[in-house]
Amino acid sequence: MARPARNVFVCQNCGAIAARWAGKCASCQEWNSLVEEEAVPPLPGGAAAAAGKGRVLALESLASASAPATPRLASGSVELDRVTGGGIVPGSALLIGGEPGIGKSTLLLQLAARVAAAGRNALYVSGEEAAAQVRLRAERLGLSRAPLALVCDSNLANILATLNEGPPPDLVIVDSIQTLWVDALEAAPGSVSQVRAAANALVRFAKLSGSAVILVGHVTKDGQIAGPKLVEHMVDTVLYFEGDRGHPYRILRAAKNRFGATDEIGVFEMAGEGLREVSNASELFLPERQASAPGSAVFAGIEGSRPLLVEMQALVVPSALGTPRRAVVGWDANRLAMLLAVLAARANVSFASHDVYLNVAGGLRITEPAADVAAAAALLSSIRNLALPPDRVFFGEIALSGAVRAVRHTPLRLKEAGKLGFKSAVLPAAGEAASDPEALKRLGLAHVGELTIEPCASAPAA
Ligand code: TYD
Ligand code: MG
Repeated sequence: MARPARNVFVCQNCGAIAARWAGKCASCQEWNSLVEEEAVPPLPGGAAAAAGKGRVLALESLASASAPATPRLASGSVELDRVTGGGIVPGSALLIGGEPGIGKSTLLLQLAARVAAAGRNALYVSGEEAAAQVRLRAERLGLSRAPLALVCDSNLANILATLNEGPPPDLVIVDSIQTLWVDALEAAPGSVSQVRAAANALVRFAKLSGSAVILVGHVTKDGQIAGPKLVEHMVDTVLYFEGDRGHPYRILRAAKNRFGATDEIGVFEMAGEGLREVSNASELFLPERQASAPGSAVFAGIEGSRPLLVEMQALVVPSALGTPRRAVVGWDANRLAMLLAVLAARANVSFASHDVYLNVAGGLRITEPAADVAAAAALLSSIRNLALPPDRVFFGEIALSGAVRAVRHTPLRLKEAGKLGFKSAVLPAAGEAASDPEALKRLGLAHVGELTIEPCASAPAA
């Protein structure tokens, strides 16, 4: 007699399996993430028996000339093509993750409609919204005339049957992977086993049919909905759509890409008529700047291959607390702590009795170490209560020793700053030399101690 199926507890965050319930997952340390699911029985006979049933596969040579690669599917969006590495690869599976309400459905409906309008075969599967709702959204986006096929269902078997009927579409969008459910599994939609099964089937469909499949995945902080983390291993490309709900800007970032670089970003603006492409992002992030206010420094950054100028704002105020506050938005809190320590130890500026707030304007998140010098300039400008010259940009990495380290793409940063009317740049002294004459005056820094803030706005900083 077969043993009754034993239930196991599956972490909804990392997919680890535990025999007993616990408040905290032993594998990823996430709290409250274990959910009871039916155990999947192992293959009868184990791996050896499975090998006996297999057939011998024909070997292919890596060096042999293969058929010419199928061209990528142009998304009709420069920003999206940049992030995917030049368009969507046929037969690939792509995951777009992001918080609910950030604009994933809007982005993908616009993409699908553009692909359909270009004469390709696109199918939009919505498990979240009814056809009327999708139509309403399409109308708002001015896309109601697009020849886009629409399916509103969340049963995976029905969706796969529809996909396998007739010629495979060029592009399939599944919104979202968390709403799909597989009949054979008892777990609720959105649980790890359901998400895994649905993603597996759809990735397989992509490989076999040659359709490009885009999956939408919601990410939430609590463990209720399975994070798309476990789907990340199955798909070829993972993109994250992020942004601050209070700002119109949205950034599409590649976290994994089997067909391109992962450091490129796409910048969009959420407007009344959907997402608009932002080709010159610097112009968007800068105009609201109050250049004459202390604590504002412009960072000449690089995202992937494109320069991006952003404002870093610091506010340093005397603290009434025993342990002063440090709050950061858009930058790494540990990086700020490190920078404050370096400024205290190497530049003799103590923030020990001050609360420190640091903000990256426009809802952008900066990960580049080159932002250190700009952050330091903003902090010093705020604690001294002196504004920085409004036409100056800052970049460079600061080491624990206080040394200012060279960063990549110096000419590209300077060119962008010059284009936007900046006149001088504080940068690592050991930076790349210019190949052609530059519009900006270079103010080289070798050590953080040289970063001084003078009362006169026209005086050089270094
Ligand atoms: P949506 O694409 O539904 O987000 P997601 O699929 O990631 O959950 O977008 C939701 C938000 O976008 C919603 O709060 C309203 C806003 N929005 C606009 O500002 N303009 C528009 O044209 C559309 C369609 C949405
Ligand atoms: Mg949605």
